Amino acid sequence: PLPLHPEISKVIFSAEQIDARVAELGRLIGTDYSDRELLVLGVLKGAFAFTSDLVRHIYPYPPHLEVDFFKASSYGSGTVSSGRVQLDSGFKLESVRGKHVLLVEDIIDTGNTLSALVAVMEGAGAASVRVCALLDKKARRRVPMEAEYTGFECPDEFIVGYGIDYAEKYRNLPYIGAVKDEFIKK
Ligand code: PRP
Ligand code: MN
Ligand code: MG
Repeated sequence: PLPLHPEISKVIFSAEQIDARVAELGRLIGTDYSDRELLVLGVLKGAFAFTSDLVRHIYPYPPHLEVDFFKASSYGSGTVSSGRVQLDSGFKLESVRGKHVLLVEDIIDTGNTLSALVAVMEGAGAASVRVCALLDKKARRRVPMEAEYTGFECPDEFIVGYGIDYAEKYRNLPYIGAVKDEFIKK
């Protein structure tokens, strides 16, 4: 096996576990949307890896699937949620009207980001809105938010990898792991 990143204390979800679960989610979503056109919206930056893997497992159903991404950010480079979500201005909300939207996120933490994004998509006239999140950190929830599709329940630890950063680092780890305490700025 590949050596662990020197700043990671342990693997929480291995690349193999992630692959297997993403494949299951893709098949489930494909079945649920088999007779509808689907607009998959990945939330940048964190969901870039998950979205990319997930859409290839939604194949071969539904036959018409669009993929798009937009930047939404609430954390900046720190560790504390501001409770505000910023949507990038380049994303055309008109593209959502009448579509069945699947919002794809790497993690639900406080729920601020996704609860705001679901409201934005509904307000933009989506025909339906569902959420697929790889990780769910229920212990940290501050606003009600339940995803229709969830990969794993996530322990309340400082996790990174597979798209998830700490101060913009570690997004390229092929697994999800915990950062060693000594590398977290207090
Ligand atoms: C992280 C994560 C989710 C969000 C979850 O994104 O990728 O989008 O926070 O937190 P919440 O449930 O408390 O809103 P971040 O704002 O760090 O941006 P990034 O994806 O670009 O890293
Ligand atoms: Mn994010
Ligand atoms: Mg982040």
